[in-house]
Amino acid sequence: MLVLGIETSCDETAAALVTDEREIRANVVLSQLDQHAPYGGVVPEIAARSHIEHLDGVIAHAMREAGAEFTDLDAVAATAGPGLIGAVMVGLMTGKAVAGVHNLPFAAVNHLEGHALSARLTNEGLQFPYLLLLVSGGHCQFLAVECVARYRRLGTTIDDAAGEAFDKAAKLLGLGYPGGPAVEHAALNGDPARFDLPRPLKGRVGSDFSFSGLKTALLHKVQAIQGSLGDQDRADLAASFQAAVTDVVIDRGRNAIRQFQTDHPKGRALVAAGGVAANSMLRTRLKSLANEMSMTLSVPPLALCTDNAAMIAWAGIERLSLGLTDTLDAAPRARWPLDMDAPRPPGAGRAGRLGPKA
Ligand code: KG4
Ligand code: ZN
Repeated sequence: MLVLGIETSCDETAAALVTDEREIRANVVLSQLDQHAPYGGVVPEIAARSHIEHLDGVIAHAMREAGAEFTDLDAVAATAGPGLIGAVMVGLMTGKAVAGVHNLPFAAVNHLEGHALSARLTNEGLQFPYLLLLVSGGHCQFLAVECVARYRRLGTTIDDAAGEAFDKAAKLLGLGYPGGPAVEHAALNGDPARFDLPRPLKGRVGSDFSFSGLKTALLHKVQAIQGSLGDQDRADLAASFQAAVTDVVIDRGRNAIRQFQTDHPKGRALVAAGGVAANSMLRTRLKSLANEMSMTLSVPPLALCTDNAAMIAWAGIERLSLGLTDTLDAAPRARWPLDMDAPRPPGAGRAGRLGPKA
């Protein structure tokens, strides 16, 4: 089965061709970074317009690279949400058009399901159930992946996502956009112990996250030395910030694993996905945590951690193989939780209400 995957939910215009034998025949990602960088974040209208302008060319590029014609396709999969609604619509409509014209089965894929299943594209032995840490610019959660289309959320952020926190920290430090890679790079020369930053929710029961207090604490440190903020200060602040985020994720992760092992005594795999999973300090610490808890860690290669269309094509393959097809009236969705039954998180500023200290 050869599937065309299309991804346009945020600021990457992407198309990929993937087979059900796990061969990635093309994986083209066109980043809109340059267009959003002057604003320090993604501007939804610019994103949507840029997808319109570039998507056809990106698909043509992927088809050429794979040596495929539209007539070789067996199905089309496109991201239908969650994401910036105008941006999602561009890829979804294009996917529907290709499927409609060539009379192909269509999968309207949840972007988060793409991240959730991406590890199975490169790791054939990865069996359900597994525990997923999904850490990106818009999401920060632990999910028990029980099988395709069945997810249970164990914990989530009550305010910012981890990637968003990295992006805001980079902005405060004047390190540019996107923040994650910039902070990681600056932290290479920094002392993580120089600044004492908080570890929000560390030691509390459960596996929810909160990052807004950490961001504010960083702002206060920056303000305290403003005017004389030098490169070494920036490096030390970046390193201290990265260490704080990582500490929190590991602490929350330990609780999430305990919960997962209770619910799924046979589940032994921890998977990290999403852009922040590209962070090498986080990867190293997650590996130690997995060892400590008798789990194995599986992280997709970097190119499949950040947004891409190969993961969308693969999620489409997984769904279509189970007979889960969508009709061409599938709606684009700005909000689309993977676990529809999960309660809404308590909300920003309510960290104190999340229960007693463990
Ligand atoms: O999954 P992704 O490509 O897009 C979505 O948000 O869906 O994730 C992008 C996020 C950004 O916030 C970016 O700053 C963060 O992932 N990121 C990183 C690293 N690379 C990307 N954060 C920390 N360290 C990195 N090396
Ligand atoms: Zn993503």
